[in-house]
Amino acid sequence: MKIITTPSEMQAWSRERLIAGERIACVPTMGYLHEGHLSLVRRARTAADRVVLTLFVNPTQFGPGEDYAIYPRDPGRDRALCEAEGVDVIFMPTAAEMYAPDASTAVVEEALSRRLCGASRPGHFRGVCTVVSKLFNCVRPDVAVFGQKDAQQALVIKRMVRDLNFPIEIIVAPIVREPDGLALSSRNVRLSAEERKSALGLSRALGMAREAFARGERDAATVRRRIEEELAASGLRTDYVEIVDTGTMEPVAQLAPGVLVALAAFAGQTRLIDNCEL
Ligand code: PAJ
Repeated sequence: MKIITTPSEMQAWSRERLIAGERIACVPTMGYLHEGHLSLVRRARTAADRVVLTLFVNPTQFGPGEDYAIYPRDPGRDRALCEAEGVDVIFMPTAAEMYAPDASTAVVEEALSRRLCGASRPGHFRGVCTVVSKLFNCVRPDVAVFGQKDAQQALVIKRMVRDLNFPIEIIVAPIVREPDGLALSSRNVRLSAEERKSALGLSRALGMAREAFARGERDAATVRRRIEEELAASGLRTDYVEIVDTGTMEPVAQLAPGVLVALAAFAGQTRLIDNCEL
C-alpha cells in the first residue's frame, strides 16, 4: 500500500494506472475509520482495479465553533485498517498542500444544499463540494463511493458531478449500524456512556417513523412531532427533523414510499445525524 501526500504525486500515480488501462475507485473520508468507511472500500473493490482512500479532515467544511480542531484523528490505526482491506493508496495531503493561502475558487451547489445540514451548517456543502472536486482532480477516479449515512451529501455530490461533467460514476452504499441500531460515525468516540445511550434515540425515532408509516400514517407533520418527542425523551437536543423528497430535499406533507426521514441532534456537544428511506 502506498501513502501519497501531494496532489502532483497523486495525479502522476493515477496517470500511470490510466495508461495501464486500469479503473480507479475513490473513497473520500476524513479518517478515524470504522466499519462504515470499510464497507465503502469493499464496495469500491468490486467496481474497479485499484482503490484510493482519501484521508483529509477538510477545514473548509467546518463552521466557526464547530469541531474541526477536536475531530478524532488516528492515522496510524487508519493505515493498518486500509492495509488489511487491500487499499492500494491512501491519499493524505496536508491542509497547506490542499489550499493555497490565497485560494479564491469554490464549488457551490445551490439547490439541494439549502436545507437540512446546509441550513444548520452554513457553508458546509460549499466546503464539501470544493474539497471533493479537488480530490477528484487529484485522484482522477472512474468511480467514487459515498455512504447513505450522509444522504444529502451523496445527493449534492451526484448533482455536482452531473452539472460539472465529472466523468465519474457515483455509488451510494447503505448505512452500517452497531448491533443496537446506532449508525457508525467517527464522532461516536466522543460520546460519554450516558450520551451513547441517548444517541440511540435517533435510530429509535426512525424505527418509530417506519412503523407509523407501515400502520398507515401518512401525515408528515404528525410523524415529525412524534420524532421530536422521542429525541427529547432520549435526552437529545434536536437540530432538525425533516421529511423530504429524496430527489429534491424539499419537505413533503404526505408520507409515501421512498420519502427520506432525516434527523440531526446533539448528544451533549456532539452532533449526530441519521436517516431512513420509507
Ligand atoms: P466522513 O464523515 O469521514 O465520511 C466518509 C464517507 O463514509 C461518507 O461517504 C459517509 O457517508 C460514509 N459513512 C460514514 N458513516 C457511515 C456509515 N455508518 N455507514 C456507511 N457509510 C458511512 O463525509 C465525509 O467524511 C466528508 O464530508 C468528505 C466526503 C470526505 C469530504 O470531506
